[in-house]
Amino acid sequence: MSDTLAPSYPSPRVDGHPLDPSPVLGKLREQGPVSRVRLYDGSHAWLVTRHAEARQALRDARLSVDSRTPGFPFLSAAQTEIRDMPPTFPRMDPPDHSVFRRLLVPEFTIKRMEALRPLIESDVAVMLDRLEAAGPPGDLTALLTLPLASLVICRLLGIPYEDAELFQTRAAVMTNQTATPDEVRAARMDMLGYLQALLARKAEEPDDDLLSRMVAQEDEAAGVTRRDLVGVAMILMFGGHETTAHSTALGVLDLMDNRDQWELLRERPGLIPGAVEELLRHHTILETGLPRIARADLTLGGVDIRSGEGVLVSLVAANRDEGAFTDADRLDVSRPATANRHLGFGFGVHQCLGQPLARVEMQASLAALLRRFPGLRLVKEPRELEFRGQMAVYGPTSLPVTW
Ligand code: HEM
Repeated sequence: MSDTLAPSYPSPRVDGHPLDPSPVLGKLREQGPVSRVRLYDGSHAWLVTRHAEARQALRDARLSVDSRTPGFPFLSAAQTEIRDMPPTFPRMDPPDHSVFRRLLVPEFTIKRMEALRPLIESDVAVMLDRLEAAGPPGDLTALLTLPLASLVICRLLGIPYEDAELFQTRAAVMTNQTATPDEVRAARMDMLGYLQALLARKAEEPDDDLLSRMVAQEDEAAGVTRRDLVGVAMILMFGGHETTAHSTALGVLDLMDNRDQWELLRERPGLIPGAVEELLRHHTILETGLPRIARADLTLGGVDIRSGEGVLVSLVAANRDEGAFTDADRLDVSRPATANRHLGFGFGVHQCLGQPLARVEMQASLAALLRRFPGLRLVKEPRELEFRGQMAVYGPTSLPVTW
C-alpha cells in the first residue's frame, strides 16, 4: 500500500454504534495483520490488528516503549508533551523497567487484592445505598464507577480521599487529546507538586500504605530516586482510576445493550468472573492502542518494520479477531474465563500491573448491581449518550440509569 493511500488513524466510528469499534479496524484486519496508517501530523506508523501478531509485538524486545525515541507514534499534539519528560516506568524498557516492576508486583498480587475484596464490596454497598436514595434515575459514573475506583486507589496508595478531586480534574486535562501541550504541562506540574509534598510527608511519617513502603525503598544506587517514585505514584493514581471506572461503565452499558446476557448473569451469578473477562475483551478502553517504536529491523506478520518506525498495537482489533475468538463481535458472558485470552490488559513485560485489583472492583460492582437492581435499565439509548471520544481512555461521560 502506498503511503498516500494509508488510512488515517485513529479512525472515527462514523455513524456507528458507540460500542462498536471503527469499521476501518475490521477491514484492515481482514487485509492483513499489520497495516500502514497515517497519523495526525502526516507521519506514518504500523498498525497491528490481529491477535497473534499483537501478542508477538507486545513481547518483542526490539519494540520499545521509550517515547523519547525519534519516530515514536504520538496520536495528537497534546501527547507529544510527554516526549521530553524523564520517563516513568511504563515508558521504560528492561532492565530499568524491571527495577520498578520488581518493587511493585508484590503490592498487586492476586492474594493481596483478594484480601481487599470485603472492603471493596462494602464500599460498593455504601455507594449503591446513595444511588438508591438519590434516584431513580441516577448517574452510575458519578455515584459508583468513578468514586469507587478513586476511593480504592487512594486508600491503597495512602492518598487522602479529599484530594481525589485534584487528581480527577488534572487527569481529565492530561488525557484529553484536544488539550494544548501547555495545558497538559500545567496539569502535570500541579500533580507533581502535590505528590512531591506527599512523598516528603510519607518519608518523615511512614504509614501502612503503598507509597510509604515505596519511599522506604528509595535507593539512588539501585536507580530508585524520589523523582522516580513521584512518577510511580502518578502512574498508579492514573492507572488505577479512570481505567477501571470506565471499563465498569462500558461493561454495564454493554450488558444493558445485550439484555439476554444481563438476565443470564442474574440467573447464574457464578458466571460473573468470566463475564468480566468477556466485557474487557468486548470493550477496550485504551482504544487507540499501545504505542511502540522499533529499535531494530524486524518482520511482523510478513511485514518488514525498519528501526525507527512506529508501531501501534490495536487491542480493540485484536480482541475482535475471529482467528482468536469464535463469534468475536458477540458478547457472550458464558465464554469460559480461562479460554478468554483477551488483550484488554495488554501482554508481555508491560502487562497491566493493576489487573487483579481491576478484576475485584469490576466483579464486586457487577455482582452488587445484579443483586440490588435486577431491573436496571438505561435512561437514554447508547447512541444518545456522550462519550469521551477525545480521551485516551474511552467511556461514557455519564451513565444515567433507572431501576
Ligand atoms: C479495567 C481496568 C484496566 C485496564 C483495562 C488496564 C489496561 C492496561 C493496559 C492495556 C496496560 C498495558 C500498557 C502497555 O503495554 O503499554 C496497562 C498497564 C498498566 N496498568 Fe492497567 N489497566 C486497568 C487497571 C489498572 C489499575 C487498577 C492499575 C493500578 C492500580 C493499573 C496500573 C497499570 C500500570 C502501572 C501499568 C504499566 C505496567 C508496566 O509498564 O509495567 N491498571 N494497563
